[in-house]
Amino acid sequence: MSEQHGSPESSGVLFPSQPMVTFGGGGSVGGAVNRAEMELIDCEVEGTLPRDLDGAFYRVGPDAQYPKQPQHMRDIMFDGEGHASMFRFKDGHVDFRSRWVRTQRWKAQRAARRSLFGMYRNPFTDDASVKGLSRGTANTQVFFHHGKLMAFKEDSPPVVLDPTTLETVNDYYTFGGALEGETFTAHPKIDSDTGELIGFGYEAKGLGTTDVEILSLDKNGKRTWHTWMKVPYAGMIHDFAVTQSHVAFLVVPLAVDPLPVVVEFRRRAQQPVVQLVALFLELRDFGSGPGRRLGFRRIVWMRRCVVRFVLHAKITGSKDTQRAKAQKIRKEQRINRRQRAKIKEKR
Ligand SMILES: [Fe+2]
Repeated sequence: MSEQHGSPESSGVLFPSQPMVTFGGGGSVGGAVNRAEMELIDCEVEGTLPRDLDGAFYRVGPDAQYPKQPQHMRDIMFDGEGHASMFRFKDGHVDFRSRWVRTQRWKAQRAARRSLFGMYRNPFTDDASVKGLSRGTANTQVFFHHGKLMAFKEDSPPVVLDPTTLETVNDYYTFGGALEGETFTAHPKIDSDTGELIGFGYEAKGLGTTDVEILSLDKNGKRTWHTWMKVPYAGMIHDFAVTQSHVAFLVVPLAVDPLPVVVEFRRRAQQPVVQLVALFLELRDFGSGPGRRLGFRRIVWMRRCVVRFVLHAKITGSKDTQRAKAQKIRKEQRINRRQRAKIKEKR
């Protein structure tokens, strides 16, 4: 079967019928596209749902809106448009709803009825008509904070969705101007003590820049802390860790390689960094109550770490929380011993 794609000359839309040889086909691998927005009242349920379960489970992932142009087909599968979905639990029922996130990119492509954006994180491959639009796909993560359901992609600011309908409310949300740069992580964290949202953006002043922005927002979305830093090279910083006293970043030891991006029009290319730089720590000095000091005091660089490619951080707890957990376990053990002794006495 011959393959057609969503080019202006083609009579229709046709995704490749076979998976591409490389890692994905620009979000257009045959079996990986859905493209249908859906509403399903009363999903089938195996077993019984608790009647007092009242809430929603949200998720998001890439779902290609159109096949990429033929010259861009060998792209990474991550580069599909964000498609959000929701399982809504109530009164012993579960309903399903899904909606594409109406990003600036999605809206432009809907109007043109074809793919307009080129290779993953390479704006030099885009159609001229989309210059200046956000390339964000909002396809990586959904997160709820300060009354807003947000969809994230780390190369752009969040997109706000209506938590009930999943309709797009704001296609370029900067937390009311709190976010000054062009990017925001897909993996923000919530401080379990203060309820604050802590996030960052890397390459925040444009593709290949070494500027990192970090900020926190309180439960009402008001900015409580903000700072800028420079990293030694433009490497991916996909995730980070937050403790009571620190924020920690791993700058992945792969630096952006501009030549293939600009000259060869390939997707975001990266080259290994010789010295395996760096774990980056910034003292956060958080803590609630009066006298709380915000702002960073010093930066600690750990270089030549034995680090390979690391995408996600796993937070197992700071020393403080580990100590608290150990104390709690010891307390429970003491209570159990006393209870066992009392039972023995009664016998
Ligand atoms: Fe991730």
